[in-house]
Amino acid sequence: MSEPTLFERLGGEWALRPIIQEFVHRMTTDMMIGFFFRGVDPKRLEEMEYLFTAKFLGADVAYTGKAIRDAHAKHPIMGGQFDRRRNILAETIDRHGVAPDIKAAWLEHVDRLRPQVTRDAAGVCISPDESP
Ligand code: HEM
Repeated sequence: MSEPTLFERLGGEWALRPIIQEFVHRMTTDMMIGFFFRGVDPKRLEEMEYLFTAKFLGADVAYTGKAIRDAHAKHPIMGGQFDRRRNILAETIDRHGVAPDIKAAWLEHVDRLRPQVTRDAAGVCISPDESP
């Protein structure tokens, strides 16, 4: 039998959906970064964040949203705001008791995408060309 995917180990769709739902709710109502989401359809955002994450974790789904660079191009996102989203995600992951290795892989994926979302570097960045 083949190794289970991170998605399967997490508990599949019904484990991931509530995590994404809580994450998107916290992000869009956050004092520091919530204003970015004014005028953004929260249902679409939740679905796209779900598909994007599920696919990364190994689910057999297709991500149908915009490329990450295109989705964020019109939003002037600063380094600290990127970190704020990352912290909200990390806290939400912890609240749902996700295994440490799944959490680590998830946040590493977020960090690899950093140069596509903000031009503000946090120390060393991997360029999009180097990401797998
Ligand atoms: C690696 C980090 C990030 C990932 C993986 C990510 C993922 C996504 C995804 C999948 C979408 C949906 C795209 C679509 O509708 O087709 C989206 C949209 C959006 N994200 Fe992010 N995001 C990241 C970082 C951030 C940060 C740091 C902010 C703000 C602080 C942010 C603000 C937004 C906004 C405002 C939208 C709506 C775009 C629009 O329709 O105008 N994102 N993001």
